[in-house]
Amino acid sequence: MKKIGFHFVILGLLFVLSSASHPSTGTLSSSPDWFNENDYIQIFKDDFNSAQLNTTCWRVAHNFLKTTEQSNYIYTRDNVIIQDGNLVISAKHQKVDFNNKKYNFTGGFIDSNSTKGVSLQFNQYVEARIKLPEYDEKDLSEPGFFAIPINYESWPHPTEYQIMKYSIFDANIQKSYPYVYNTFIYYQWVDNGDCRIQYRSPYKKLDFSKYHTYGMLLKENEVTFYIDGEAHFSYVANDPSNSPKLGCSVRIPKEKIFLGFDYVVQNTLETPKYMLVDYVRILTPKKKQ
Ligand SMILES: *[C@@H]1O[C@H](CO)[C@@H](O)[C@H](O)[C@H]1NC(C)=O
Ligand SMILES: *[C@@H]1O[C@H](CO)[C@@H](O)[C@H](O)[C@H]1NC(C)=O
Ligand SMILES: *[C@@H]1O[C@H](CO)[C@@H](O)[C@H](O)[C@H]1NC(C)=O
Repeated sequence: MKKIGFHFVILGLLFVLSSASHPSTGTLSSSPDWFNENDYIQIFKDDFNSAQLNTTCWRVAHNFLKTTEQSNYIYTRDNVIIQDGNLVISAKHQKVDFNNKKYNFTGGFIDSNSTKGVSLQFNQYVEARIKLPEYDEKDLSEPGFFAIPINYESWPHPTEYQIMKYSIFDANIQKSYPYVYNTFIYYQWVDNGDCRIQYRSPYKKLDFSKYHTYGMLLKENEVTFYIDGEAHFSYVANDPSNSPKLGCSVRIPKEKIFLGFDYVVQNTLETPKYMLVDYVRILTPKKKQ
């Protein structure tokens, strides 16, 4: 009997009628203006409802300096707690001695490195629901929600996705902003003339008495940041940067990335500050892409 082999080649041709109109680095974004979670399934969630932080997922920094420039503050584990169903990351005016150096401030830092579960891959979406402190120009600090490719130990990282950054100062116009929000990608790129820049999204004013969700949809050729489900800004691969005079374009690394939260402390901090994270979750598309 003759054996007949059938080869079914299934071409999944998905025509997306893109109606994206949110701002981008130049090229029209292929990600939706509004994130639709019905197209996704949840593959990870930490809602911080247990008594202690789950250290299978998260590592907590203690007596940690992220950068060599970091001289006024140090990350300590006391600034990371679970309280009332939130991950609470704080920043304090508090003297600490470490390795014969004195630090006047402390902040909290956790990341999901060295874990099995919490890393983000292409086409996935990550989101955290966060409440930030009210802005006070004389009493500053900068909480953040970030992602970093897995294989880099030291700062500056070749890439750093700041999914949420509470910004206090616009370097371009040399002006402080009350109640501002920004997202940006931090990039060091040595294979194209050692170009290191921040791709900074526009700022957004929010009501900081409320929680907001800060999300990121990571694709091979594009990264889109969402605030409360609405696309805020897209970084499209190979587009010119926000700072064309620096002459490099957006490049998205191929590595898996891990997640983290931290509190950068300014010298002007007076009263303790708290970032409350209600949950963080990762969604993956229902359909194969
Ligand atoms: C901690 O996280 C791991 C990895 O995501 C998970 O398998 C485990 O169930 C979590 N433990 C608790 C107590 O939630
Ligand atoms: C810490 O504060 C003291 C004053 O209390 C000041 O003299 C010192 O320079 C500060 N240290 C740093 C690293 O800013
Ligand atoms: C993550 O952890 C691994 C293993 O400890 C390490 O090699 C890598 O450099 C770390 N990445 C970052 C960005 O800390």
